[in-house]
Amino acid sequence: MTMLGIMAALPQELGDLVAQMHAAGAVETVTLGQREYHVGHAHGVRVVATLARIGKVAAAATASALIHVFKVDAIVFTGVAGGVHANVRVGDIVIGDTLLQHDLDASPLFPRYEVPLLARSHFAADPSFSDALALAAASFIADEGSALAERFAVHAPRVHRGLIVSGDRFVASNEGVLALRDALPDALAVEMEGAALAQVCFEHAVPCAVVRTISDTADAAAPESFAEFLVAIAGAYSSGILVRFLRSVH
Ligand code: ADE
Repeated sequence: MTMLGIMAALPQELGDLVAQMHAAGAVETVTLGQREYHVGHAHGVRVVATLARIGKVAAAATASALIHVFKVDAIVFTGVAGGVHANVRVGDIVIGDTLLQHDLDASPLFPRYEVPLLARSHFAADPSFSDALALAAASFIADEGSALAERFAVHAPRVHRGLIVSGDRFVASNEGVLALRDALPDALAVEMEGAALAQVCFEHAVPCAVVRTISDTADAAAPESFAEFLVAIAGAYSSGILVRFLRSVH
């Protein structure tokens, strides 16, 4: 039976996953490198759920532990992101089909964004896990989208698939988001972990997938929008997507 690693940066981004695991049966909690790894079942799937905390190093270290210590077969990251593309709005869901580190630049030794000595800048997520996440996100929106839109004053939410960019920077200025759009016109969303997870998973041939709900549009209003979204809604999105996803892969 598949063992799935499920990561998020902050507690709200895991939704009710750990509570669901306790409701489903015994959960073993292992502390390693100042992180707690919860090993058990959720919605019929064997899972290891953990919080990476924020940033690429944190995500890479956590992904390594999931692969080497907990022997997971695949890793899914769930959380929030800033919208970069003009079509991506707060409350939308983005599935990262490919991921790139927008702050990686070893030029002129290597082309901008390329991971030195790996000869690539873009890392692909696993297509079948990404398809399953996209279906789960669409079904969540079909069931709960209008209630969410009404309750939280977001537009009718939509699902997007494409490029997510990651870096060790919370993007929170109009110039910052415009610079990202200019440099990486395909980028749908920006966050701080996904591409690090994707690089580690590529290096170990472990499938991964990333799903992000848009909490802000990475502009001057981002800090306030992010904080409000995280507390009020992020958990509902993560729980609603994960339950549908886990039931579909089980
Ligand atoms: N995660 C959520 N919003 C973000 C932003 N604006 N920049 C980086 N990571 C984010």
